[in-house]
Amino acid sequence: MANDQEKEAAARSSLRFVKDGQVVGLGTGSTAAYFIQLLGEQVKNGLRILGIPSSDRSREQAESLEIPLTTLDECQQIDVTVDGADEVDPQLRLIKGGGGALLREKIVASATRQLVIVADATKRVPVLGKFPLPVEVVKFAQALVAKRIEALGAAVELRRDTGGKPFLTDENNHILDCRFGQIPDPDSLARQLSDMPGVVEHGLFIGMASVVLLANGSEIVELWARDK
Ligand code: A5P
Repeated sequence: MANDQEKEAAARSSLRFVKDGQVVGLGTGSTAAYFIQLLGEQVKNGLRILGIPSSDRSREQAESLEIPLTTLDECQQIDVTVDGADEVDPQLRLIKGGGGALLREKIVASATRQLVIVADATKRVPVLGKFPLPVEVVKFAQALVAKRIEALGAAVELRRDTGGKPFLTDENNHILDCRFGQIPDPDSLARQLSDMPGVVEHGLFIGMASVVLLANGSEIVELWARDK
């Protein structure tokens, strides 16, 4: 099965977590885009939900599908969010932010009762860190933060857009892609990054996922967090 079909299959299997009347967080990325597409079909068929998008991109997609939306200003509790991931480890710790939306994604996830992660099986790893960890930084501090993260053992690169300019997030910050190779202790790295002045947010999502749905061929593997 092609990667895209697996992404769609994972997204499709997440639909059963969405119930009539709920507030639904809309993730970002190619797998989340399948979810939003499928959710749009359900809304056309009568499902009543209110979506809270985690990026401008996902908001535009949801609007084009006429999914009713709300905002965190109006509603601070999200029943279920469906989002993708770049890596998932055995404790359901995640690397996210490959698409650059990690800050709003983490805010949405933090307001969510049940975070459902959808991905193809290639995202499952024994140890996080092969995928470069995205760290969102304020522009003023980016060189300083880059040095400090390099001192922790990563090769750090400022993300650029296709035109070669520094990539801008929805909140107008920059992203440092930090290649660690392996992150033996993600919890401790997460704390170190959060403590660095100038870091707005990092792409380690720890203790947030309730369930991960991994499509492996036509099979969906469900991994549940123990404490959720
Ligand atoms: C967006 O910022 C990311 O966190 C995505 O959720 C993640 O990169 C997974 O994206 P794909 O579904 O496109 O692989």
